Amino acid sequence: MNILFIHGSPRGRFSVTLQTCLYLEKRFPGQSFRSLNAGAGLDGFERDMAPAAEALGWAELVIFAYPVYSFLVPSQLHRFVELLKESGINLRGKYATQLSTSKHFFDVTAHRFLEENFHDLGMRVIHGLSADMEDLLEERGRREAEQFLEYALFCAENGVYEKAPAARASLWKPYVSTLEGCKKEDGFDVVIVSDLREGDEGLRALIKDFGAAFPYRTRFVNLRDFPFRGGCLGCLSCATGGKCVYRDGFDAFLRENIQSADAIVYAFTLRDHSMGSRFKMYDDRQFCNGHRTVAEGKPFAYLVNGDLSGEDNLKTVLEARASVGHSYLAGFASDADSLRALSLRLAWALEHGYTPPRSFWGVGGMKIFRDLVWLMRGMMREDHLYYRAHGLYDFPQRRFVRMLGMSLLGALLRSRRLRRVIGGRMNEGMLAPYKKVLDKA
Ligand SMILES: Cc1cc2nc3c(=O)[nH]c(=O)nc-3n(C[C@H](O)[C@H](O)[C@H](O)COP(=O)(O)O)c2cc1C
Repeated sequence: MNILFIHGSPRGRFSVTLQTCLYLEKRFPGQSFRSLNAGAGLDGFERDMAPAAEALGWAELVIFAYPVYSFLVPSQLHRFVELLKESGINLRGKYATQLSTSKHFFDVTAHRFLEENFHDLGMRVIHGLSADMEDLLEERGRREAEQFLEYALFCAENGVYEKAPAARASLWKPYVSTLEGCKKEDGFDVVIVSDLREGDEGLRALIKDFGAAFPYRTRFVNLRDFPFRGGCLGCLSCATGGKCVYRDGFDAFLRENIQSADAIVYAFTLRDHSMGSRFKMYDDRQFCNGHRTVAEGKPFAYLVNGDLSGEDNLKTVLEARASVGHSYLAGFASDADSLRALSLRLAWALEHGYTPPRSFWGVGGMKIFRDLVWLMRGMMREDHLYYRAHGLYDFPQRRFVRMLGMSLLGALLRSRRLRRVIGGRMNEGMLAPYKKVLDKA
């Protein structure tokens, strides 16, 4: 079979993901392989998509191979997907799958994002492989990689693929400005961050009306105007000192203009099941903050020019980002009613310092970060100091009294006679500390 790898890592030939692709090429000598370097070679495709069209025309099975970056794919690969869709290259009926490496932190949302776009392109989707970045170093990981390709070949040879979701009628209408301005107060610094393009009147009206309805003054930052030198290169130079190798001033811009705010409102036009590749570049470049939750406690909100109702994956990404960062998400607004509600919720959260606890996404995500930073603390110096200072190394659990209590209880419960005696008092015992709190309240 003609298999085309689309490499999405900006690290080019130094990519860890690439090593799994090279391994598979060696292990499957009977197949024909070619590759496109969409990550490190994006500039070439910005100028000319003809080489991509030729290679894709040749391919029977296309495998997008990439590192997971900030819940999704790297901005370079994201941009390549945009170029692919804009180019009109006909991919209808071609088999598409993916191979990612990561630490499994929101690998699922990255895979979903690509699958949604494969479906848009009319491709036949085969579920991909999400490997840990070190899997190839182990026998199990190598076996799983080989099995993945065998599985993908089996599916492609036998016409087995994931059905595209049924087209749904949308009730969404482009937003037209309707809200009156209200009296403004000082007291909080609220920044609206957008990727506002010329002619995007729906988004412009949403931003204007949020500014009108919100009781506090707002500032506006347009990422379109920021002179980004490029997407994150994955070089990890920032891991030791928190400084990026690019000299475009993004770190300072981020810290002084955006992270300094009391609340952040993101405003975007929904594109390709995402906020667009410019916002992705902004997200990836925040790797200069490493795994530190620097915006903890700051409320967030999203103004969405588009129909978010069918975008469960994007909503998961945005909700999970708030949860991992331990921030209140005041919601998504795309019409006058939701704008008004979002504005009230955000103002209330600011005035009351509202920060709900992390959910499964935040708690689970932080455990992955904790283990990663601990292991790499020699290199991820800034992260390590932050995790130590903020008590984020919550292992091993040193709750010796509790552990001893549980051991005693376990020993007692192993005796049938004692189990009968204690059984009835177990519930009372469990609630005893809570009772103390209630008595004091
Ligand atoms: C900017 C950036 C963002 C990342 N985001 C994630 C992430 O969201 N989830 C995850 O599990 N790993 C994340 N990683 C780790 C990479 O996915 C992982 O190191 C990958 O194996 C690198 O592959 P590559 O060498 O092919 O680029 C991130 C790394 C970088 C540099």
